[in-house]
Amino acid sequence: MALLTILHDPDPRLRIPAKPVSRFDAALRRLIEDMFDTMYDAPGVGLAATQVGIAQRIAVMDCAGKDEPPQKIVMINPEISEAEDQQEMEEGCLSIPEYRDKVRRYNKLHLRALDAEGKPYELQAEGLLAQAIQHEIDHLDGKLYIDRLSSLKRERYKKKRDKLAKHAA
Ligand code: NI
Repeated sequence: MALLTILHDPDPRLRIPAKPVSRFDAALRRLIEDMFDTMYDAPGVGLAATQVGIAQRIAVMDCAGKDEPPQKIVMINPEISEAEDQQEMEEGCLSIPEYRDKVRRYNKLHLRALDAEGKPYELQAEGLLAQAIQHEIDHLDGKLYIDRLSSLKRERYKKKRDKLAKHAA
């Protein structure tokens, strides 16, 4: 088991748009396993490669409930189609510690992506999984959910972030 270091906002590497994956080899599968280990250890329901400083379009997710068996999902070069039913959903992020806020997301969507072997698959997602897919794709585009908040809320978040950073220093 290898744990990767999760970058925190305002690390500039979180803002780099990730490149599509074209090589499906042992190194990629190893990275995906390490990303799952890192995500479960945090713990979180999703992790994008961007968050561990790798600018490639890879994300892992597991939105299973506490008493359910794991539902590991790998999404590589993901694309969303047919999104509908926008709702405000409460959101957090491993790169934004100690902060949560409500973000407008699609409650239902259709995902097209590749798995760890490079095989295409499609998925109809709803609720928390749909939210996680949008959140992770934002990461791959160099975006954070705080970008989607009102400027007032974003300022409030930044003040809190800078205060926390000062305490840590
Ligand atoms: Ni996140």
